[in-house]
Amino acid sequence: MNNSDDKLKFVLTTPLYYVNDVPHIGSAYTTMVADAVARFQRLQGKSVLLITGTDEHGQKIQRTAMENDVEPQVHCDRIVDAFKSLWQKLDIKYDRFSRTTAPNHQAIVDEFFERVWQQGDIYLDRQQGWYCVSCEEFKEERELLENHYCAVHTNKQTEWRDEENYFFRLSKYQQLLEELYASQPDFIEPASRRNEVLNFVQQGLKDFSISRVNLDWGFPIPIDKKHTIYVWFDALLGYVTALLEPDERPTLNNALSKWWPIDAHLIGKDILRFHAVYWPAMLASAGLPLPKKVFGHGFLTKDGLKMGKTLGNTIDPFALVDRYGADAVRYYFLAEIELGKDGDFNETRFIEVLNNDLANVLGNSLNRTLGMLKKYCQSKVPLLTSADYGLDHPLFNLGKDLGARATQAYENLQTSQACEAIFTLVRAVNKYIDDSAPWKLFKQEKQAEVESILFAALESIRLSAYLLSPVIPGISSKIYQQLGFDRDFNQGEVLLEEDFQTHSQWGKLSFDRTLDKASPVFLKLELPSED
Ligand code: MSP
Repeated sequence: MNNSDDKLKFVLTTPLYYVNDVPHIGSAYTTMVADAVARFQRLQGKSVLLITGTDEHGQKIQRTAMENDVEPQVHCDRIVDAFKSLWQKLDIKYDRFSRTTAPNHQAIVDEFFERVWQQGDIYLDRQQGWYCVSCEEFKEERELLENHYCAVHTNKQTEWRDEENYFFRLSKYQQLLEELYASQPDFIEPASRRNEVLNFVQQGLKDFSISRVNLDWGFPIPIDKKHTIYVWFDALLGYVTALLEPDERPTLNNALSKWWPIDAHLIGKDILRFHAVYWPAMLASAGLPLPKKVFGHGFLTKDGLKMGKTLGNTIDPFALVDRYGADAVRYYFLAEIELGKDGDFNETRFIEVLNNDLANVLGNSLNRTLGMLKKYCQSKVPLLTSADYGLDHPLFNLGKDLGARATQAYENLQTSQACEAIFTLVRAVNKYIDDSAPWKLFKQEKQAEVESILFAALESIRLSAYLLSPVIPGISSKIYQQLGFDRDFNQGEVLLEEDFQTHSQWGKLSFDRTLDKASPVFLKLELPSED
């Protein structure tokens, strides 16, 4: 494959998470969304690269390792294990795990630095200002709280720095960036975030420092080893290193030959500036094409309050998935929160949503339909297709363009919209069965009508399970298997576009089979007891 096969490939990134601590629910949220979107692209038969990983250099990590009395690399390795184990528990199917301490990463950073240096975009100057180690970012005095506390990490005081640093000539790219945002209005999404960036850029861009002194934990600046490369300059390039094949020689050309440019960077709103301003300017300086999109999602709150260690109200993603299972956690965050908006976690609501949508609506529709199929059709699926239904049929009508609508939603990274559209059909199945009462028709010996109703219900449930598989792969697999398909959505089988064309449409698949007994696909959850 080369870069011209654009429509056949899809590259998506999560941020490379800091390893100062084990993963929190915020990192899990981004990674679950990215995983669902990547899964949908794979269903369509595309070659997909989902990149996640860890950002391991810088003062924050060095200090955390010192506090824990271990070498930084040992500390990083431990935390990386925790990230990988959470991704496994949550059924995240990433293709690359990019670590900024990986040996091949330094070669990429050095070569990139060299290009930008040759471009004349790096110079030595004096940096003075307030630095937040937790943000790894210089702050303007006006952004700070009293006594120079950071407004983001309200329990952390910023530190005064006055040192020689190398600077990147960001100001030179003001016009290029403004033209980029104007010519590609969907480069930054959602629109509210785009406006924030436009306002920031309109105020005039200042060059930023890309080296630190008195810091060992990082790569040295190739031309001046007293300096260490600033953690963000190093980390963003982790996306490029991730594109290398495992044993490929680490050169920019190799890294960029197959998968570049990246289709979308999915990040939280707090790191938008780095991705939507600094990153494209750095790439432009190195003469490289730009990524297609930066999507800044919102923040999670708990019971309406900002989550954080200071309030002691963080959610442990390990505990959540151990208690409720991967599909439950995925469904809540991906169906309930509109990507781009802040979203709240409340355990009572969590249980309500899951019990209602997954047990009462989805599970029950399958269960009752299979029960009736056994009773009225000896468990044999009636041999019908969409051609046997008119456009005014309530389920065919909702199902006929559901595949297209779900595709649109997933392509816009809007998993909640996809779920909403799909659940409109699942809810309609239950209503349709109630309204058409096949048990009465059976008594009246209207077998053809009974079969038509049951096929329409089964086909709607199948289609829904298929389109929900990026969000709840475990439950979708159970449904598919009960409908007689040998498919496990958690297996990484390579799919063809034709497979998508038949499975994503209502009434196109051949369904000639006798089914087994139904078994529950989702067991109702209970709130943990208080003691
Ligand atoms: N290391 C940088 C990213 C470098 S990318 C080249 C970083 N890491 S982080 O671990 O601090 O943050 C990772 C992500 O978690 C960010 O996208 C951030 O927005 C997200 N979240 C942190 N707290 C969050 C919530 N409470 N809710 C949702 N996401 C949150 O920044």
